[in-house]
Amino acid sequence: MARLDLRFTDGATMTAPIAVGDVVLDAALAAGINLAHQCRSGSCATCVGKVVSGETETVAGRAPALLSSEIAAGMRLCCSLIACGDVTVELPYASTFTLADQASSTAGEVLECLPLSASVWKLVLKPDPSFDFQPGQYLRLQVPGTDAWRSYSIASSRDATGRIELVIKKHPGGAMGEYLTRARPGDAIDVEGPFGAFLLSQAKGPTVFIAGGTGLGPILPMLDQLRLRGGRAHPVTLAFSCSQAEDLFLLDELELREYWMPLLDLRVGVSRSTAEWEGLRGNPLALVDDESLLAAAAIHVCGSPGLVEATRQRCARLAIDPAKIRSEQFIPEVTLAGHPTPETMP
Ligand code: FES
Repeated sequence: MARLDLRFTDGATMTAPIAVGDVVLDAALAAGINLAHQCRSGSCATCVGKVVSGETETVAGRAPALLSSEIAAGMRLCCSLIACGDVTVELPYASTFTLADQASSTAGEVLECLPLSASVWKLVLKPDPSFDFQPGQYLRLQVPGTDAWRSYSIASSRDATGRIELVIKKHPGGAMGEYLTRARPGDAIDVEGPFGAFLLSQAKGPTVFIAGGTGLGPILPMLDQLRLRGGRAHPVTLAFSCSQAEDLFLLDELELREYWMPLLDLRVGVSRSTAEWEGLRGNPLALVDDESLLAAAAIHVCGSPGLVEATRQRCARLAIDPAKIRSEQFIPEVTLAGHPTPETMP
């Protein structure tokens, strides 16, 4: 029997026995260590960790849900990682995360559904009274009247009791997009979750958030968590961009955070601007200057795989420690086959 050491961001290490040839996630769960996971098939990237020592292999045929830069940095999917002997894996969250209950299924109810912009809708659900989550996590919903499940980040704050807000990009022809136009208060909707380890970094210091489109969803409650954390306030940069001005959404919510957080530097732009657009131009990464990235104790990026990869590459060019970067990528529902990465997802 070999030894599996699991290191967490709070400095704790948990140890489990693992047989040569066994999967890391399976060994951890068998030992009662509830590592973050969802699909257990290599497609959601929820179970990502970094192999810091030991020889490992990858389960054959598993879809590579990781970016090439993440693989180069030693990141692996614990559900697809086979131990060839003793192995040590670092997880991007605190050990207390493993004490949380397993994600559960529940019957939810639609409270409200309305368009926020030309392409983004807000869906408000009434959760079970015992429901709790960490800012940055996401839910899976079964699209009413279909067999389709979709994943969306939670965009409301943890203290918004009695309601969960999701911001959803409405894709033409998509199952959820079609449902949004016929959703009514009181509709029953099956919900699973919460899932995900895209959580606010505990690092103290300047913080950067980079949000592409509905990638803003999980970042809003993370901002609120940061504001309420207490202690010395540090500069916060939030860069948010959509394709066109008519796609921008929740600008009033962002202005409110600007008012609440004097050290928040809010940069809102569009990547396909018209002559009438008088604001910033470019994708969200282009709205952040090198100085902000270099000064950051933590960088959180949520958006398309291209945005996440571009952020990691730019940070690599600036010699920024990849451990400072937390990311969540999403894939439009119309391109998904099977179990999606969060569509933030929304
Ligand atoms: S649980 Fe490992 S990729 Fe989904």
